[in-house]
Amino acid sequence: MPEDPGLLEFALAAARAAGDVLLEHFEGELTVATKSTDIDLVTSADRAAEAALTERITRAHPSHWILAEESGRLAGNPNPSDTSDSGGDASDPRPPPGVLQWVIDPLDGTTNFTHRFPHFSVSLALVDHEGPLLGVVHDPTRQETFYAARGRGAFLDSPRTRARFGRPQPLRVTATRALRLALVATGFAYTRATTPTNNLLEFNRVVPQVRCIRRAGSAALDLAYVAAGRLDAYWEYHLQPWDVAAGALLVREAGGELTRIDGGPWDLRHGDLVAAGPALAQVLQGELAGARLASGTCPQVHAAR
Ligand code: IPD
Ligand code: CA
Ligand code: CA
Repeated sequence: MPEDPGLLEFALAAARAAGDVLLEHFEGELTVATKSTDIDLVTSADRAAEAALTERITRAHPSHWILAEESGRLAGNPNPSDTSDSGGDASDPRPPPGVLQWVIDPLDGTTNFTHRFPHFSVSLALVDHEGPLLGVVHDPTRQETFYAARGRGAFLDSPRTRARFGRPQPLRVTATRALRLALVATGFAYTRATTPTNNLLEFNRVVPQVRCIRRAGSAALDLAYVAAGRLDAYWEYHLQPWDVAAGALLVREAGGELTRIDGGPWDLRHGDLVAAGPALAQVLQGELAGARLASGTCPQVHAAR
């Protein structure tokens, strides 16, 4: 837990304000451009929500670093926007010891948003050298705010939880043991037309075995839903730190397990992730790893983001 308890309140307010920015753009005109491939989109809404977050953080916490999807890494004072001589390892999304860094996905679910499909989120995490300390995944459409603090549990705050229980509700992953009883989710990278780890082998292996599968389009919400017990598990390849920093903490704090697809330990440097309740984690991970082994595809490709 960060020493300043105000940081959680700050993160909740910042994520909600960014969600309001997204809602303002949702019905209006959008400017849409492409990034890594012709299906990897960025809109004026992504940029406006990210600017709202980075301005707010820089004003309130000028010494904190920022790693944001659309702007990259910004080191805090005294070297704003220059990490070259401030000890940052560009290949490690975690900051050096003693530094706090915000990891921002201003709009997780840009493809949904562009098509006016109302399932998207703001993902905001505060990370230290060990990994995520605070995580907030805010769904502005449903006004649901999922949050966690390291060692302090995971919670859902929404108008519904407040009306019904008077306070945020603790989150818990499911105890589901069998794939046949599981509702699981996954996603497919923007590079799926060219990457060998396009997730199709794994998808084909898992689909016939589970109760059903979802590809809802926001990794951060997929993880929040695993934490909330609305999904039993989730996996994906080629994730970025901003997709998962907040959601991974939610899952862990809700009692879930996080591994790489080959079963190794996961941290923010790895782009492949399996998240599940403890009773299902190994079963699903075994099926995913087995899909690739059965095809004879080199397992080293799992190391790539
Ligand atoms: C994407 C979403 C999607 C996942 C992709 C992500 P974006 O993030 O989380 O569900 O499958 O891997 O890149 O581009 O909408 O922020
Ligand atoms: Ca994302
Ligand atoms: Ca995004």
